[in-house]
Parts: sequence; C-alpha cells; structure tokens
Amino acid sequence: MGEKEGEKKYTIEDLPGVGEATAEKLRENGYDDLMTLAVASPKDLSEVCGIGEGAAIKIISAARKYADVGNFETGGEQILERRREIQKLTTGSKNLDGLLGGGLETQAITEFFGGEFGSGGKTQIMHQLAVNATMPKEKGGFDADVLIIDTENTFRPERIVQMARAKDLDSDNVLRRIHVARAYNSHHQILLAEKALEMAKEFPIRLLIVDSLTSHFRSEYMGRGGSLAERQQLLNRHMHDLLKFGTINNAVIAVTNQVSARPDVFFGDPMAPIGGNIVGHTATFRIYLRKAKGGKRIARLIDSPHLPEGETVIQVTEDGITDGGV
Ligand code: GTP
Ligand code: MG
Repeated sequence: MGEKEGEKKYTIEDLPGVGEATAEKLRENGYDDLMTLAVASPKDLSEVCGIGEGAAIKIISAARKYADVGNFETGGEQILERRREIQKLTTGSKNLDGLLGGGLETQAITEFFGGEFGSGGKTQIMHQLAVNATMPKEKGGFDADVLIIDTENTFRPERIVQMARAKDLDSDNVLRRIHVARAYNSHHQILLAEKALEMAKEFPIRLLIVDSLTSHFRSEYMGRGGSLAERQQLLNRHMHDLLKFGTINNAVIAVTNQVSARPDVFFGDPMAPIGGNIVGHTATFRIYLRKAKGGKRIARLIDSPHLPEGETVIQVTEDGITDGGV
C-alpha cells in the first residue's frame, strides 16, 4: 500500500543499531513492524527489549521515517500533528472525567482494573462508554461507531437500551452503531483486534473496547500450564495492535483487567493486575476500581505520566454511570 514501483520496502532490520539479535528481541515483544515501532514510546521499548533509551529513540525516529503503511504519516512532525488531534470521550461521570483530565483520550489505552464478580463495575463502564461514543460531540461523544471485543459474554443490549434512553438517544440507532464480536479464546481475540483495522475502513470506529483483556490469557495459561513467557509475548503483541488501532483511527481504546485472586499462580503479586508489567507499560491510563457502600465505586488513577494521582467516587445506577457524590 502506498508503495511505488521500485521503492525499497524497509523492514525492522534496516533500522539503525538493529542486528539479528535485536530484531529477534523486538519481534518477540510484538514490535514486529515499522508502524508499531513508529508509535512506540522510547521508555517502553528500552525496558521491554533491554536496550538503552538513546538507542530506542534512534530506532523509533528511523521507524517513523521509513513507515509507509497506507495513508499513515511518515515523518515525526506529522506524528506530532496527530498528537494534537487527541480528543476526549466522556465517561458519563464528571468526577471520573475530571480525574482523567477531561475524559478518555484517543490514541491511548485506558485500563480499568479491579476485583472480580461485579465488584468493579468495569463492564458497566464499558457499556456506558459505548453509548457515549455514539453521542454528538457537543455532549462529550464522538458521533462514531464502537467495536466491542467481548471475551466473557457479558455484553447486554438491554443495558445499552436503558443507558441510551437515559440520555434521550434513539436506542435503535445507538445499538446499530455498536458492533460486538465474541472472542472464544486468546488467539481469536488477537485476530479480532487485527481485523478491527479492516473494519475501521468500513465503519467510523472511534472506540475499541476489550472486555476483558486478560481473562482468556489467564485461564488458558492456568489450564494448560503453558509457558508464561509465551503468554506475555502474545499479550504484549495484542496490546500493541490495540495501540496501533487507536493511533491510526484517533480512537479511544478501553480495556478491562482483573486483579489476580490467586497470586501464586499468575503473573506475580497479590492484588496486582493480571499481565503485570506488560499491560502496565502499554496502558497509558490505569484506573483501579473498588466497591464502596450503596452501589458506589471508588476510582483511583494509578501511575499516570501526565496527571496527578487521585481518587473519586462514581455510581452504577439503572441509568448508567454517574457521579457518586462525596
Ligand atoms: P467482573 O467482570 O466480574 O470482574 O465484574 P465487573 O467489574 O465487570 O462488574 P460489572 O460491571 O459487571 O458490575 C456488575 C454490577 O453493576 C452489579 O453487581 C450491580 O451492582 C451493577 N449493575 C448492573 N446493572 C445494573 C442496573 O441496571 N442498575 C443498577 N443500579 N446497578 C446495576
Ligand atoms: Mg465484567
């Protein structure tokens, strides 16, 4: 695509300082093409692949020069321009929007994590975001379509109808704009994320939801006793596919994750989000949710590079996500 006759097609081996061993390391960690590297952060690249940050910067800027995928920009300047196009999607709660500096950012991954079995209200928030993305811009939406990758079979159209009506939206129209794909296992989930790029050519998708990001990865790993390194690599690659989607389509990526109830068997610390560092490095915004009294949930922003840490209260009601008061 976009390649002229006789024009050289670059691979990651053409990047400065990338020999066979580094190329392998990059590929293993999901940085398998120029586009993925072009949108990577130097810090992530350096930590994940064990190279110096200076070397990572060189690799990324060369990747930006060489990347020639479809109508995607080639130079660093255009990428900066793209950063200026960032928009914010409302969560429905002024408290939570405020915590996030105005809402969920496009071109970034926002992770909602918390305990299992309804304690977090994560799936409820995903439903609300889907409805909100279809709303007009003056109401904090994108007037856009939504793609949900549903791994736990928890998508409920009836909830969309309730939430849409509460916002005086035509619920049929909202439902038509929400495309749902069930993912039956982690490989299927990865495939769906890749296919999402094609779907976005047909529909104006500006919100991609993965609920839950890690459940298949966890159960397959526990069930088969498979290799942890392999799982982590697949998850990392998947996260990069999601980020790529967000960058190319100026879309919000919202994912859910659970804290591990069995610290000994999966990915490290007690009460740590599943996927550990892999998910943490790639998600730009991470929100920890926990249950409070009376249907309220406390949302805490963790490790954000640009925003202060803080907590706020939201509420899950029949009408959807609202402020929880103080
Ligand atoms: P896991 O996926 O199991 O980790 O949970 P989750 O964090 O996704 O939780 P989920 O969003 O499924 O939250 C379910 C909770 O939302 C329920 O226990 C209710 O408290 C609340 N909820 C769901 N629907 C309604 C509704 O129509 N009205 C009200 N008031 N609350 C609701
Ligand atoms: Mg859920």
